[in-house]
Amino acid sequence: MATAPQLQPLPPGIANLADFEAPAKARMTAQAWAYLSGGAADEITLRANRAAWDGLLLQPRVLRELAGGHTRSQLLGRELSLPVLLAPIAYQRLAHADGELAVAYAAAAQGIGMVLSAQASVGLDAVAQAMASEVQAGPLWFQLYWRPDPGFMRELLQRVEAAGYEALVLTVDAPVHGARDRERRAGFELPPDVRAVNLGGLKQALHLAPGQSAMFDGLMPGAATWAQVEWLRAQSRLPLLLKGVSHPADALEARQHGVAGLIVSNHGGRTLDTLPSTVAMLPRIRAAVGAEFPLLVDGGIRRGTDVLKALALGADAVLLGRPYVHALAAAGALGVAHALRLLRDEFEIAMALCGCKTVAEIDAHCLWQEHPKVG
Ligand code: FNR
Ligand code: LAC
Repeated sequence: MATAPQLQPLPPGIANLADFEAPAKARMTAQAWAYLSGGAADEITLRANRAAWDGLLLQPRVLRELAGGHTRSQLLGRELSLPVLLAPIAYQRLAHADGELAVAYAAAAQGIGMVLSAQASVGLDAVAQAMASEVQAGPLWFQLYWRPDPGFMRELLQRVEAAGYEALVLTVDAPVHGARDRERRAGFELPPDVRAVNLGGLKQALHLAPGQSAMFDGLMPGAATWAQVEWLRAQSRLPLLLKGVSHPADALEARQHGVAGLIVSNHGGRTLDTLPSTVAMLPRIRAAVGAEFPLLVDGGIRRGTDVLKALALGADAVLLGRPYVHALAAAGALGVAHALRLLRDEFEIAMALCGCKTVAEIDAHCLWQEHPKVG
């Protein structure tokens, strides 16, 4: 049985999610901080994600009847109390000794869904037990990276299903680690006590002949293709989502392969630099897949207003990334719970001031337009 993490006090003066960043940095090693906060290469995409949310303006509506409003919605047949899930982030014990376990307790207490990373540093059963500790807990999903070992994948899927995870998320935008200059400069390496415990320390050894490319002869023969998407669908009864889709043609192909939903993402700017922001990607993907197809988005979400803007652009829900790990580093489970509460409060304020009583009412009319249609 997982033991509940110790509560530790919040740092003073926390008013929003960004306020957790400085105390997190102060508590983490310079190497771990470079891993958590960095992006690929010149970090142009990392900055673009944030700038794009800031650049979208809102259109308030006044004097509407909002009594009895709420933030609930449906996703994959499940109720979300808030259209926010925690993004899969590897190795959370780099931020705090309680790692993913503290995050799961906080998410469950706040009724927020969670996607556990394949490279989690806490066992997937302990995380599932922590989520199950609250009746109002949100959905729990498991993120996968493809490993070219069907036996290993089959066994992992069985463990994930048996533990009670409700959906699988195959991350498709990172078959190779991006060029992470910040990590390299800092000399980031995993400390000996933090590892991908659910993958059993499996190493992908590359056997190369002289003159062969580590990329195209080493990594790529074992990387996932649409055939592995089919294989995963056949192996598991859980709905399968793809994370990291940005081209409308890939989105349509995913739908044809029976994928249950998509996460529009550029991996928080960590894979290929100079990709556009996810704000730019999202409307094109929504237009391609149609109004009903489950669509989530992540990258640079820091404010309740960002959540509202994502929904206005066509997302059903968002994934929150780095900020909850900052809160974890700063104050463990209590920090994460507080961060989620702040985000909920901000989202409710944004809904009320944009005149939206329910999540279903949030649409493009919430965004400022130069020439609004009247009537
Ligand atoms: C990630 N992300 C990620 N994604 C994934 O599918 N599997 C993983 O194991 C990880 N690991 C990971 C580690 C760290 C340190 C970061 C910052 C990110 C990407 C993550 O799920 C998400 O797409 C982004 O973090 C979203 O952007 P923001 O909210 O961090 O700006
Ligand atoms: C990362 C990998 C683990 O972004 O997805 O660091």
